[in-house]
Amino acid sequence: MSGALADRRILITGAAKGIGLATVERFVKEGARVAALDRDVEALAALAGRFGGNAFVSFRADVSDPASVETAVSNAATALGGFDGVVSSAGIDLIADIESMALADWNRIIAVNLTGPMLVAQASYPHLKAAGGGTIVNVSSGAGLSPLKHRSAYCASKAGLQMAAKALAMEAAEFGIRVNTVCPGAVETELFRTSIETAPDPIAAYEAVRARYALQRVASPDEIAAAILWLTSAESSYVTGTAIAVDGGRTFH
Ligand SMILES: NC(=O)c1ccc[n+]([C@@H]2O[C@H](COP(=O)([O-])OP(=O)(O)OC[C@H]3O[C@@H](n4cnc5c(N)ncnc54)[C@H](O)[C@@H]3O)[C@@H](O)[C@H]2O)c1
Repeated sequence: MSGALADRRILITGAAKGIGLATVERFVKEGARVAALDRDVEALAALAGRFGGNAFVSFRADVSDPASVETAVSNAATALGGFDGVVSSAGIDLIADIESMALADWNRIIAVNLTGPMLVAQASYPHLKAAGGGTIVNVSSGAGLSPLKHRSAYCASKAGLQMAAKALAMEAAEFGIRVNTVCPGAVETELFRTSIETAPDPIAAYEAVRARYALQRVASPDEIAAAILWLTSAESSYVTGTAIAVDGGRTFH
């Protein structure tokens, strides 16, 4: 198999939809063998047969549940014969002002968006070490670089994920493991669509988002997958501990 990820074995969470799915598509095209993890088993099942040969296996996992992560990561490692890389894309959004936000909502956002990727990294770590090194790429958000109104839990979870990844990059380097973070802006996915469609005026909400971006548009999931590919491939061999904005220019000004 040829390509930038020829024969690399990669675990991808949130792989059934959106940025995670675009990453699966791009990685398989670049020669990787992928283990797709998601809590949405129906969406995972719909992908069966779409990727040829032994390039794709999928497992149910809720990244906020340590036992579920342990089982899925272990099964995925057995199926692929180990891992050379991990991409954590599973995540959820919450729009809530401080007075109406329930503690359970705050806890859920932190559990999925911050604790989840760290549980996945922890469970995958022995496999990456056994492979002699590898890569971890976490999908954070521009909301972790520059705040958004009514998203205190989401922003905190995404900023926390960036720092957790930087700290992990410090300890993982001696094992040849690089840890990086991608910070997307608005991306045309179900998560983004839901946030727009539940706004009081969806057309105005979409325009307000678009106007914040120097490039004046929303991204396609594949544009984020391209950055994840670079951070997973040998082309970024001297890059670790960084958080890269792939956000059409929302957060630099
Ligand atoms: N779409 C955007 O505008 C945008 C912007 C910045 C950052 N992000 C981040 O990108 C990542 C992917 O988002 P997306 O837009 O592709 O969303 P999406 O809703 O299209 O896809 C998310 C996937 O994650 C899965 N998932 C959610 N919670 C899970 C859990 N607890 N365990 C396992 N799987 C779970 C879902 O089933 C789904 O398949 C998220 O971390 C999100 O915060 C998205």
